[in-house]
Amino acid sequence: MSASAQVKRISVPDIAARKGQEPVVVLTAYSVSMATLLDDHCDCLLVGDSLGMVLYGLDSTLPVTLDMMINHGAAVVRGSSKACVVVDLPWASYQESPAQAFRNAARVLAETGASAVKLEGGEEMAETVEFLVRRGIPVMGHVGLTPQAVNALGGYRARGRSDAEQAKILGDAKAIAEAGAFAIVVEGVVEPLARQITEQVPVVTIGIGASAACDGQVLVTDDMLGLFAGFTPKFVKRYAEIGEQVSQAAASYAADVRARAFPGPAHLFGVKKG
Ligand code: KIV
Repeated sequence: MSASAQVKRISVPDIAARKGQEPVVVLTAYSVSMATLLDDHCDCLLVGDSLGMVLYGLDSTLPVTLDMMINHGAAVVRGSSKACVVVDLPWASYQESPAQAFRNAARVLAETGASAVKLEGGEEMAETVEFLVRRGIPVMGHVGLTPQAVNALGGYRARGRSDAEQAKILGDAKAIAEAGAFAIVVEGVVEPLARQITEQVPVVTIGIGASAACDGQVLVTDDMLGLFAGFTPKFVKRYAEIGEQVSQAAASYAADVRARAFPGPAHLFGVKKG
């Protein structure tokens, strides 16, 4: 493809400009093949640290490392040409200090070619978000149900059921927006709170288990494709049952191999005559 025919990748300012406009479509991707399939349909591909649970079978996202995120992030950038790629900073790679966050976020952008990083947290992370943004690292925030805080939150239950919790999460979103985040994931909160955050915060909100009123939506791709064998949260809509298809294909293959019906003549190399 000539340089002029190449599709321009959607940029961070393009996403930021979508506040109150056409909803931003985001799905997770962890591999070249999935990124290639999703790229045409998504504005953003999120290389989420959910990959620890979805791909690696871990109990939480806490053991995910920076190297894992960089390897999968680079694969997703290689597999896409249109979507804005955002890579999660994993647990303990940014909470210690703004300097630690800058060092690790800079590695992610330099070694993957992604356009932005995502980090979890509210008011306590505002200083870090500002430090990164002022130094040229675009940041997507993440408030509400923040899976890296599973131990502090005591699980993955929906957030914002009490007035106090609602006020805290709204304050978190405002602080992260004021610090310069270009978008904020709002996860697992009661619907009126997600709506209120979207109305009151001047940056793009990306909902997951939140509200259709958000400026965009994200789902874990493996969940919405029916590929992930683990627990599926209430807020996931299944758009396909690919897991069943994979299982049926494997069963057909196994039956063919056992019956010596595969490989057939079409799959074999013959010897040239003469
Ligand atoms: O890790 C992830 O995939 C995420 C999304 C669920 C927002 O953070």
